[in-house]
Amino acid sequence: MARIAVLGGDGVGPEVVREAAKILATAGARFGIPLEFEEGVVGGAAIDKHGTPLPQETRQLCSVCDAILFGAVGGPKWDSLPVDRRPERGLLLLRKELGLYANLRPVKLFAPLVDTSPLKREIIEEVDLMVLRELTGGLYFGEPKGIVPVENGKGKRGVDTLIYTTHEIERIARIGFQIAAQRRKRLTSVDKVNVLASSQLWRQVVIEAAKEFPDIELDHMLVDNCAMQLIRDPRRFDVVLTENTFGDILSDEAAMLVGSIGMLPSASLGDGPGLYEPIHGSAPDIAGQDKANPLATILSVAMLLRHSLHHESAAAAIEAAVSQVLERGYRTPDIWQPGPTVLVGTAQMGELVVESVVKG
Ligand code: IPM
Ligand code: MG
Repeated sequence: MARIAVLGGDGVGPEVVREAAKILATAGARFGIPLEFEEGVVGGAAIDKHGTPLPQETRQLCSVCDAILFGAVGGPKWDSLPVDRRPERGLLLLRKELGLYANLRPVKLFAPLVDTSPLKREIIEEVDLMVLRELTGGLYFGEPKGIVPVENGKGKRGVDTLIYTTHEIERIARIGFQIAAQRRKRLTSVDKVNVLASSQLWRQVVIEAAKEFPDIELDHMLVDNCAMQLIRDPRRFDVVLTENTFGDILSDEAAMLVGSIGMLPSASLGDGPGLYEPIHGSAPDIAGQDKANPLATILSVAMLLRHSLHHESAAAAIEAAVSQVLERGYRTPDIWQPGPTVLVGTAQMGELVVESVVKG
């Protein structure tokens, strides 16, 4: 019996997770995978209920489950809180405490969406890359961190610290080479070696790690240039390996290659249970209106089946079902365009994918 912790969170999180959980249950039934679902509170919802973004019960639930299905956290209601007490802290603590250092963000264009992206068809056709983001180091967690008064009493100082150790770089680099080995065997390591000491170490360690993987073609790119190349020639990329903050930014940018941020799933992996979430946020402006695209979360469930439950055929069935529903012309508002397509809401999109998984 695989235990799945279901953390909807805030904004559109619970809506998209509801649909994704249904699809996971459907795939479980079709492929004979015994599953047990248990809900937990996190983020702003947890602040309101328990005064903290990651309550003890949720921690406990996540530490004993096999995988976590996560929605999104945050919203205007909690915007004035200091960073260490905000809803996002709940997610960051989970990543850190569960050691989820490897964040896989596949960016693959579904052919029916080729004209949905603001970019030209000839640039994005057949885009298929993987952003591998280091998830438990860098600016997000480095100490010192905080806002402190300056010595002369005039104003304050806001401090974040960008730290990476050899060990942290080595283990994510290895994952990068291993993923590349399963794909087109190209790895682009992204850094800011011309300015940052942490990037100098990053590049040295990646070059050293490459010796174990002689059949992978490695290149290095500065992050500002990478931001440009992603738009100019995205097909040159296979696996993009990068640190936490750069990966956060580049993956939102890469979402535009596939039409909408509502299409990008993610898997966060470490030594314990994996966490699966869409890369988008809680979208408070459309929360509760049945407008959010559940496909990013549904595709995250496919990753859950693949990486945590090692059930490739069930994962592939969900991806095929999403592809089929898009081919039949169904679109949520974020990917809708005038023409021969049918506008649907969150729940109907979920239902269509369920039906398609059932039929196979
Ligand atoms: C993401 C998100 C998170 C991040 C936020 C919600 C803390 O933007 O997963 O990309 O910055 O990592
Ligand atoms: Mg982000």
